[in-house]
Amino acid sequence: MRIAIVGGGYVGLVTGACFAKIGHTVNIIEIDAKKAATINAGRAPIYEQGLDAILKKYVGERLNAGIDYAPVADADLSFICVGTPPAADGSADLSMVAAASRSIGEALRDGERPHTVVVKSTVPPGTTAGTVVPAVLEHAGRDDIGFAMNPEFLREGRAVEDFLHPDRIVIGSRDGRSGDTVAAAYQGLAAPVVRCGLTAAEMIKYASNALLATKISFSNEVGNVCKRLGIDVYEVMEGVGMDHRVSPHFLAAGAGFGGSCFPKDVAALVSLAESLGEEPTLLRSVLDVNDRQPLRMVGLLEERIGDLWGKRVAVLGLAFKDNTDDIRESRAIPVIAELLRRGAAVAAYDPLAAAPMRRVFPGIDYAASAADALRGADACLVMTEWPEFSDLNGAFDLMKSRVIIEGRRILTCDGKEGICW
Ligand code: UDX
Repeated sequence: MRIAIVGGGYVGLVTGACFAKIGHTVNIIEIDAKKAATINAGRAPIYEQGLDAILKKYVGERLNAGIDYAPVADADLSFICVGTPPAADGSADLSMVAAASRSIGEALRDGERPHTVVVKSTVPPGTTAGTVVPAVLEHAGRDDIGFAMNPEFLREGRAVEDFLHPDRIVIGSRDGRSGDTVAAAYQGLAAPVVRCGLTAAEMIKYASNALLATKISFSNEVGNVCKRLGIDVYEVMEGVGMDHRVSPHFLAAGAGFGGSCFPKDVAALVSLAESLGEEPTLLRSVLDVNDRQPLRMVGLLEERIGDLWGKRVAVLGLAFKDNTDDIRESRAIPVIAELLRRGAAVAAYDPLAAAPMRRVFPGIDYAASAADALRGADACLVMTEWPEFSDLNGAFDLMKSRVIIEGRRILTCDGKEGICW
C-alpha cells in the first residue's frame, strides 16, 4: 500500500518506519525540514532502539520524508500522528490535529484515488468525528473519503518491538470499508484486531493508559503501607499479580510514573470527565498519589541524614525510565527541585538524559559516571531503573556516608532501602 504519515515525531517515525519494514511505501510529512533531512539521511532524530537500522535499510527505497503534503493525494491511507500536548487546563491541545486535517483535505482535493484518513494521535473521544472528519471534508471538497481511528500503544525504548508485536490492533471506523483498508495495512502482523466505532477506539487508548497508571499508583500506595509494616511490596505484588485477573505487569512500585503519555492522558481524561459533568475521583487520585510519591524520597532522606542544607546528594537516573533519553514528567524533576529548595547540592548522572536535564537544572553538577556522582556524597537517590546501576557495588564505597534510597528497584548492593520497600 501507499501510506502517508503526517508528523515525523516519535509516533509517526516509528509507525512509518515499521510500515516500510513490513512492505509498504511510506512518505513521512514533517514540517520541520531539518528533521525531514535527518530522516532522509537514514538517521532517527530521536533515540529509539532498532529505529536507525530500519531507516538505514529502507530510506530512499520505500521510505521518504518531506515537508510537502503532495504524497497524500497518491496514497491509500494517511495517518495523523501529530502531537496533542496538554493545554493549561489539562485538556488536550488539538491545534496540530486540526491543522493536519485541513492540509490533508487540501492535498486530497485533486486526488481521485479512494483514500482513508486515519487518526493515530492520542485524542479525546469525539475528536475524529467532531474535528478531523469535518475539517478534511471541508477542505477536500469531496465526500468519498474514509475515516478511521487506530491508536498506538508504543512504549518508549521498546516502540519498534511493540509495533511489530502488538497485543492487539484497535481499528475504529465510520464504515466497514475504511476499517478493512486499515486492517489490510497491518497484514502480516500476528495480533487480534478489535473493530469498533471511532469514539470507542479513542476511549480504548485513554482507558488503557489510565488503567496502567492506576495500577502503578495503587502499587505505590500499597507500597507505602508495606514500608510502615516492614514488609516488601514486591513480595506482596508478586502474590497479587499471580491472579490472572490482575496480571503481574505494571505493579512495580517506586517513585511514580512519568513520560509523555500517562500524566498527560490521565489529566486529559480528568478534564474530559469534568467537562461532561462527571466527578473523576479515582483518576484525580491517581495523579495526586503520583505527585506526592517522589517527594517521599526527600522526606525519607531527611529522616536519615537530617537537615539537607549543604549536603551533597547523588541522583542516579534522570530519564523517566530506562532505555530512553526522555525526561518528560520524569520523577527526578520534582525530587531535584525539592533537594535544591532544601539547600542540598546535587550531583546527577544518567547515561543518556543529562543533556536534556541540563536545560531544566543548569546549576547542578552532571557527573561523567555514577562513581563520579557518588564520590564524597552524603546520600544517593536512584530515580531510573538503568541496568548498569545494578553492578555499582564498589562505587558506593566512594560515598561520605552510605545512605542509599531506591526510587526504582534496581540495585544489588547492601545497605540500601527503597522508597516503599
Ligand atoms: C506508555 C504506555 O506503556 C504505552 O502503551 C503508551 O503507548 C505510551 O505510554 P511509556 O510512556 O513509554 O509508554 O512508558 P512505560 O514503559 O509505560 O512507563 C511509564 C512510566 O511508568 C515510567 O515512568 C515507568 O518507570 C513507570 N512504571 C512502569 C512504574 O512505575 N511501574 C511499573 O510497573 C511500570
